[in-house]
Amino acid sequence: STTEGAPPVDSNVVRQLLLFDPFDPEFRADPHRVYREIRESGPVTATPGGLWLVSGHRQVSAVLRDQAFGWGEAELAAGHFTTDDEGNTVRPLTFADPPEHTRIRSLVTSAFSARIVERLRPRAQELARESLAAALAGGGSADVIQQVAYPLTGRLLCELLGVDPEYQERFRAWAEAMGRGLDPDFMQSPDQLARREEARAHFHEYFAELAARRRAEPGDDLVSALVAVEQEGDRLTATELVVTCTLLLSAGYATTVHLIGNGMLALLENPDQLAWLRANPGRVGDAVEEVLRFDGPIQLVSRVALRDTEVDGHAVAAGSPVLLLLAAANRDPAVFDDPDRLDVSRKPGRNLGFGVGIHFCLGAPLARLTAQAALSLLVEHELVLDGPRPAPTGSLVLRGLAELPLRSA
Ligand code: HEM
Repeated sequence: STTEGAPPVDSNVVRQLLLFDPFDPEFRADPHRVYREIRESGPVTATPGGLWLVSGHRQVSAVLRDQAFGWGEAELAAGHFTTDDEGNTVRPLTFADPPEHTRIRSLVTSAFSARIVERLRPRAQELARESLAAALAGGGSADVIQQVAYPLTGRLLCELLGVDPEYQERFRAWAEAMGRGLDPDFMQSPDQLARREEARAHFHEYFAELAARRRAEPGDDLVSALVAVEQEGDRLTATELVVTCTLLLSAGYATTVHLIGNGMLALLENPDQLAWLRANPGRVGDAVEEVLRFDGPIQLVSRVALRDTEVDGHAVAAGSPVLLLLAAANRDPAVFDDPDRLDVSRKPGRNLGFGVGIHFCLGAPLARLTAQAALSLLVEHELVLDGPRPAPTGSLVLRGLAELPLRSA
């Protein structure tokens, strides 16, 4: 689970690299105080450990739109690519640079269409209501992370991809092992890295077999659409397809669960905002954008300088790793009025919670739809926190709740 495992490296080494220790309980309780200090001391900062930390909204957006940053060969040696039968290197979209990225992204986008996602909307609402009703059936406490967010997110992802229902539990375990792998390798123990590799192998084996079945007998699911996709004579190779499906599950599972959990907690802790949403239930879409800004599950993304370049006047040498603190940028007062205030009636926009530029989250429409269905439950039911405020857990990259016990008011 995301709760387990402090990093294998010494806390002081981590502080040299990052200026903070993401596993320090004090940091976890309020990362925004630290992010604010970092941003105020300089929106672009070199750490003693040789990393660049970028925390200003303008600077984070600029790096994410700058083709001078991407993924070097050295980064990829860390096990972020697959070699196909012809010996070609296949990178998942997140780690691919143009032109490879451009080609695969456009092929996947044409299959992962708005239509295929929108079709899931009534199903999302139905699954959200069913899982909450089942969780509350005993009359006591319902853990909306384990009993609502996980099953809702998992079922939707599996139904989208056309995955056999009996695989859902295994998928969750594999996706969690891969999710830990979102952190840079230096934050992980050899054991965690081995589990990531094992999970990846399981996913690849499963999706290769599923794609073969869909090639023989197509359905109306995303794997069938990916099998069929063809643009200008170009198509996804069998390995690209398997790598992409694995990415969709590993990028889309814990992230969506944690957006739901963080979002529900933020609303419950700001009763004026929840009251406003209840009075304006049609604005649940804006509420999801605001909780993504206020306490999004992805704290940061990283890049490597592909050549000598500069960021906002700072010379950055080729090969330098750069961390983009999305969570800090999302509270930059230069862009958001009163940034530390949850305000679900805020005009959405310029939110970096899904990234920006060529790697902007491909699953954003599905994540939004899923989170909207879940947050609507708070509009439909009078629910209150059952017990003390749960402590956020996670890794360097992910921030979320392992449990969120609620009961009927
Ligand atoms: C990329 C966040 C849900 C699939 C990204 C990126 C972010 C992000 C910040 C940019 C990474 C970078 O620039 O390095 C989130 C959040 C989610 C979420 C906060 C939930 C609340 C999903 C879902 C899926 C998904 C549900 C798929 C089913 C992807 C993919 C990419 C991506 C494939 C890579 C796109 C590319 O590199 O071109 N996501 N994501 N994500 N996300 Fe999401």
